[in-house]
Amino acid sequence: MLRGQIADAAKVKTGDIRKAAKMLAASRRALVMTGAGISAESGIPTFRDAQSGLWAKYRPEDLATPEAFQRNPGLVWRWYQQRRRDLRRVQPNAGHKALARLAERIGSYPLVTQNVDDLHERAGSERVIHLHGELFGTHCFECLAPCSEEADTAEEKDRATATGSEAMPPRCVHCGAFIRPSVVWFGEMLPAAAWAEAEAAAQRCDVLLCIGTSSLVYPAAHLPGIVLEAGGQVVQVNPEPTALDTRATINLRGKAGEILPALLDAVNEQNT
Ligand code: APR
Repeated sequence: MLRGQIADAAKVKTGDIRKAAKMLAASRRALVMTGAGISAESGIPTFRDAQSGLWAKYRPEDLATPEAFQRNPGLVWRWYQQRRRDLRRVQPNAGHKALARLAERIGSYPLVTQNVDDLHERAGSERVIHLHGELFGTHCFECLAPCSEEADTAEEKDRATATGSEAMPPRCVHCGAFIRPSVVWFGEMLPAAAWAEAEAAAQRCDVLLCIGTSSLVYPAAHLPGIVLEAGGQVVQVNPEPTALDTRATINLRGKAGEILPALLDAVNEQNT
């Protein structure tokens, strides 16, 4: 199967895939960074696609800011509950799986993701750093205490939807304020420990594999620049042009679910 995939992808980029594979096989401190594009082939919409992107259908200021939650906590909560249900229904794709297998080939590496889904973990990646939080996490809007709200099963959630009992977010058992999703909204700081870990990994990284991000949202979009300034190289995987194109060492133009298995196959060839 992998042979077929490398043959297909090779029509577009044989030389570049081999070059990138060589760099990865020789790397000592590789780093992987992902954005919404890696989960697109699992059926999760990206944010900035002009037609299917979440921000083409919804306004971030209505759903993804602390002010939006204060204004209309029920609306924001229900939107995230729907995203959780959508996530439970999808599976990791060939791109997520290839990244998990890459760690077996080149050694364990940190995987910094802007995604709030758990598809990297479900595919078997171990050192996942979530820069923008996690969809299944919840904590108190006021006192920040973590909450186990999301331990509920999908069935219980669906029942709650049917009875309308999830119209508003649950209340914090400590202070009584509303519980919110543990995702980073616009205007909020990134989780300090996650950012510190990602920044340190970028500073010492020799090859960054940057996949499926428009490279428009900061501070995450600073990471490739940190790698390049420290003398590392950047391999980008994306079917569309991005803000990173002119600075990337190699641009592998294509879908993550096709390019990454081909890249893994080419790394395997390097190792044999
Ligand atoms: N494989 C690889 N890349 C893909 C694929 C695919 N199959 N499909 C789409 N892409 C690319 C798009 O071309 C685009 O460059 O994924 C990128 C998605 O970009 P965005 O929608 O801007 O997502 P992302 O970069 O992750 O956004 C960053 O913005 O609103 C926020 O918090 C949200 O974490 C998110 C942040």
